[in-house]
Order: sequence, then structure tokens, then C-alpha cells
Amino acid sequence: MDYKFVLLLVYFGAVLVLSSAQHENIPYEDVKDICEKCVCLTAHDSDKRYHHLLSCTSNRFKHILARWPTEFGKNHDNVDIVATFSYNEIELLQQLPATDAQLTFSCRHCGIKDLQEPTFIDVPNIRRLDLSWNEITSEVLTPGVFRGPFQVTHYEPIELVDLDLSHNKLHQLDKKVFEHTPNLTKLNLSYNDLKVLNEPTVLALTSVTGLQELDLSHTAIKSVSMSIFKSLVSLRILNLAGNELTSVPDKLQLIGRSLISLNLAQNPIERFTEESFTGLTSLQNLNISYMPVLKTIGKDIFTRLENLRRLDCAYNPKLTEFDMESILHSSNLTDLDISHCALTTISLLVNVTDKSKTNISTLARPWAHLHTFEISGNPWYCNCSLMQTLEYIGAQQSNEETPARCDTPYFLAGNIIPNLSSKEICNLKISKKIVIEEDEPPKFLRKRYIILTLITAAVVVSIGVMLGFVIAGIRRRLKRNDFGIEPIRYTSVRSSNLSAFSNGNTNSIVVKENGAANANV
Ligand SMILES: *[C@@H]1O[C@H](CO)[C@@H](O)[C@H](O)[C@H]1NC(C)=O
Ligand SMILES: *[C@@H]1O[C@H](CO)[C@@H](O)[C@H](O)[C@H]1NC(C)=O
Ligand SMILES: *[C@@H]1O[C@H](CO)[C@@H](O)[C@H](O)[C@H]1NC(C)=O
Ligand SMILES: *[C@@H]1O[C@H](CO)[C@@H](O)[C@H](O)[C@H]1NC(C)=O
Ligand SMILES: *[C@@H]1O[C@H](CO)[C@@H](O)[C@H](O)[C@H]1NC(C)=O
Ligand SMILES: *[C@@H]1O[C@H](CO)[C@@H](O)[C@H](O)[C@H]1NC(C)=O
Ligand SMILES: *[C@@H]1O[C@H](CO)[C@@H](O)[C@H](O)[C@H]1NC(C)=O
Ligand SMILES: *[C@@H]1O[C@H](CO)[C@@H](O)[C@H](O)[C@H]1NC(C)=O
Repeated sequence: MDYKFVLLLVYFGAVLVLSSAQHENIPYEDVKDICEKCVCLTAHDSDKRYHHLLSCTSNRFKHILARWPTEFGKNHDNVDIVATFSYNEIELLQQLPATDAQLTFSCRHCGIKDLQEPTFIDVPNIRRLDLSWNEITSEVLTPGVFRGPFQVTHYEPIELVDLDLSHNKLHQLDKKVFEHTPNLTKLNLSYNDLKVLNEPTVLALTSVTGLQELDLSHTAIKSVSMSIFKSLVSLRILNLAGNELTSVPDKLQLIGRSLISLNLAQNPIERFTEESFTGLTSLQNLNISYMPVLKTIGKDIFTRLENLRRLDCAYNPKLTEFDMESILHSSNLTDLDISHCALTTISLLVNVTDKSKTNISTLARPWAHLHTFEISGNPWYCNCSLMQTLEYIGAQQSNEETPARCDTPYFLAGNIIPNLSSKEICNLKISKKIVIEEDEPPKFLRKRYIILTLITAAVVVSIGVMLGFVIAGIRRRLKRNDFGIEPIRYTSVRSSNLSAFSNGNTNSIVVKENGAANANV
């Protein structure tokens, strides 16, 4: 009986040692005089709440500390600790030293490949965790990593609110990875090579029902399944930039009530449809910049975005058409950026018929709160309707260094648009001469000079021809009168001189005409 019991003890002991402490023999960094190696700061606010900062960046540490500095005191109730170990060489992130403080912990650029499970068991009040720029793989990121202390029947959750795992080597998530972090509201998975949101990953994401901010940018995904939007009904900020999406994800409107900010930049979306943004009634910020193949923004694309404040639609090199009427319903618009696209014109005011007589400054602005309006870097065709539209919209562009310039017509090319007034451009028919004279072609290419030259040439030629007839007549007469040899020499000299003169002139006309033709091309 006794030896069986001992055996059992030995067995469980072995199991315990083998399973729970696979990294027990690894030392921690020496804590003594740690505040000399690292930076320790302590402050307290008016409520006598203590804030401790421990910054051990760039120390070539191989491990974190086993205990918190004694300077931080013994009792960490009602205390904040911010600890950073970034830029060290910590391949294995060991269990964090115990504290009841509200903890913010970061270890960016640490080369972390492995996590000692359960990493945060002694820091149940950890709030923010930044493990970006490491080499954490899907295999290492198990649910056990986030497990809290064991209580009679279950593991307690940890308080984690904000988790940054960007720039790691995750391909997918374990479907239960967030089972111990019910309070997670902000998750950053950007710059992980996910490629697809497979079933376990979707299950993991949909389990975090309180999620408010999700960053899936630069994860090479091609689509986002609608079950994510079904579950994440509190999502406020969604970043899908830099992916392979060819259309706006379906059923985005399921989170339309909560979604405030949507980033779709750098995706190969060619066009939006009327359904793309329907139901996003709360949306305030929309980023559709850097889209390599986006061609047009049609009429009813943004019609329902009544709360839109900021629209970023810049650096879309193929965008040639933007219907401004599509955003007229967003009456609270404050920032509009359509710079660096391929737009030649935009128009509002299509109903104003007599454009040159309209006094734009008497019209009510389409967006009363518009603060910035960026239009530089587009090949603008500066005609009356463009200038009037810009004046009507009214906001100044903020970027003084690269002002918007006219691209065409040629006599306005390079002009800074804010320096031109619609009145000036709309009345251009009257003041055309003045505008042309500013940078006109060389004298001999100007129309009236060409005409003058032609007339001169014609006169000279006809005089020559007439003289020729006269001379021929004289010759014939001389021949008839049998006047001898003299006149023949006389005639040949005169006519050869004349023909040389007129030939030279016609040649020069040809050259000038060619020159004019080239200039017109
Ligand atoms: C989650 O947040 C709620 C309210 O903010 C809080 O009452 C609860 O204790 C938190 N849960 C954990 C595990 O910290
Ligand atoms: C997510 O991480 C990336 C890269 O580290 C960073 O640029 C981005 O701001 C983060 N997103 C959020 C919402 O914090
Ligand atoms: C829009 O997204 C692009 C690409 O991610 C980014 O560079 C730009 O800063 C974003 N614009 C705003 C206003 O956030
Ligand atoms: C515009 O903003 C004001 C104040 O923020 C708000 O009361 C109003 O409802 C908004 N208008 C629309 C159309 O959303
Ligand atoms: C122009 O007039 C048409 C028809 O009268 C109307 O439907 C349209 O909304 C008007 N556009 C603007 C910008 O007022
Ligand atoms: C346009 O209207 C404004 C304000 O009513 C006025 O000050 C300005 O002189 C008008 N301009 C023209 C050209 O009528
Ligand atoms: C101004 O130019 C645009 C683009 O070429 C053209 O569609 C529009 O009809 C022009 N408007 C006027 C009044 O010439
Ligand atoms: C454009 O106008 C600004 C001020 O309104 C002036 O400083 C600048 O010299 C002008 N530029 C040109 C090219 O006329």
C-alpha cells in the first residue's frame, strides 16, 4: 500500500515537472542594482496612485527580470507599472514576475520565438501587451499562454485589453487562443502572413465579442468572411489596408451601427458599387487611398454615409472620375483628400447655367465644416466649371509646398490653381490675348506673321511672273524686229536673277510653314 502511494507521488511529481516547467532551469536576468542598468521612474498622481516605469531597452538582455525592482515597493495594489524590454535578445519570453499592479508590458524587436506557458499567470492585471516585431509563430501562440491562475474548477481570465502581435510569423490563430482574455478590445495582427482567414482564425476572432479595434492590415488576405461581422458587433475601427481584397467585404453593414473608421487603402479594388458602403451609418473616417486599379467613384457610392467626416482618396493613379455629388449627403465632412490621382476635372454646380455671370461667393457652401481639401498632384484641366467648382467648395488646401497646378490647357499649364480666380478663367474669351502673350511661340510662328509672310511671298512671285511675261513679250518683239544677239544675254541675266530670288523666297516659306506645323503638333 505505502510503496504504491510513493510510486503515485513520484509519477505525479514527474508529470508536474515535465509538463508545467519545461523551461524552469532557465535563469532570469540579475535584479540587483537593476535601476542602474535600466531606467526606473516613479510618480504619483493627485489620487496618490503610483505609476512606475521600468525601461530596460537595448541592454542585450537575454532574459527578463525575476522580480520587480525593490524601488517599486512591496504592495502593488492600486499601482500602475509600465515595463519595456524592447530591443533585447530575448528568444524565450519567460513567465512575467508576479504583481497585482495594472501592467503594461512591451517587448518589441526582442527576437521572441517562444513563450513560456502560462506567461501571464502571475500578472492577472496585465492590461496592455505589445509583442510586435518578433518571431512568434502560430504553434507557439496557444490558449495556455494567456491562462490566468487556477481556481478550484477553472482558470481565471486575465484582464488583457490591448494586444499587439503585429510583425510576427503567425499564419493562423488557435480557435481558443482568446478564451482567457474576455476583456480584449484591441487586437493588432498586422504584418503577419495570414493569407487566408481560415476556420480556426475566424473562430478565434469571433470569440472576442467585445472587440472594438481590429487591425488586419498587410496580412495578404483576399476576403473577410461575414461571420466576423456577425459576431463583432462592437467593432469601431477596422483596418484592412494593404491586402488583396478586390471588393469591399460583403455584409459589412452588419457592423454599420458601430463602425466609425474603415481603412481599405492599398487594395486592388477596381470599383465600388452602391452596396459597398450601404448601412455604414456611423462611419466617420474612410480611407480608400493608394488603390492601384481604382478607376471611378460613381454617383451613388457614398450616398448613405451621413456621418462621414474624413474621406481619404489620394494616390489612386488610375482614378480619372470622381462624382462629387456622391458625397453631398455627408454634410459634416471636414477633410477631403483627392490629391495625387488622375483627375482632370470635378464638377458640382451642374445646374448653374450662365457660369460667367454667377457670383460664387453668394452661394451656400456644400460642406459648411470642410476644413481641408487636398487636390494637388492631379492633371487638372482648368476651365471655367472646374474653377467655379473649386471656389464653391471653398476650403483651402493645407499643403503649401506642393500646390495644385493646372495641367491643361497649355496656356495655363503650371499655373497654381489657388492663384487663379474663376472670374478670370470664365472671362478668358475677352482677355485671351493677354493670357496668350505671356508665353507665346516665337515671332515667326505667330499667325499674323505667317500670313504676312505668305502675302509678301505671293506679291513677289506675281511681280516676278509679270516681269517674266513682259520680258518674254519684249524678247518676242525684238526677235520679230530682228534686233540681233544682244537682247538674248540681257534677258537671260534678268530672268535668272529673278527666278533665283523667287525660289529663295518660296523655300523660306516652306521652312516657315513646316515650323508652324511642328509647333502645332
Ligand atoms: C472586464 O471588464 C469588466 C468591466 O470593464 C470588469 O468588471 C471585469 O473585471 C473585467 N474582467 C477581467 C477578467 O478583468
Ligand atoms: C498595428 O501595428 C502596426 C505595426 O506595428 C502599427 O503601425 C499600427 O499603428 C498598429 N495599429 C493599431 C490600431 O494600433
Ligand atoms: C490611409 O491609408 C494609407 C495606407 O495605409 C496611409 O498611408 C494613410 O496615412 C491613411 N490615411 C489616413 C488619413 O489615415
Ligand atoms: C453633424 O454633426 C453634428 C454635431 O456633431 C450632429 O449633431 C449632426 O447630427 C451631424 N449631422 C449629420 C447629418 O450627421
Ligand atoms: C440639378 O438638377 C437636377 C434636376 O433638376 C437635380 O436632380 C439635381 O439634384 C440638381 N443637382 C444639384 C447639384 O443641385
Ligand atoms: C459677389 O458677392 C459678394 C458678396 O455678396 C460681393 O462682395 C462681391 O462684390 C460680388 N462679386 C461680384 C463680381 O459681383
Ligand atoms: C471643362 O472641362 C471638362 C473636362 O474636360 C468638361 O467635361 C467640361 O464640359 C468643361 N466645361 C466647360 C464649361 O467648358
Ligand atoms: C500665388 O499667390 C501667393 C499668395 O497668394 C503668392 O505668394 C505667390 O507668389 C503666387 N504665386 C505665383 C506663381 O504667382
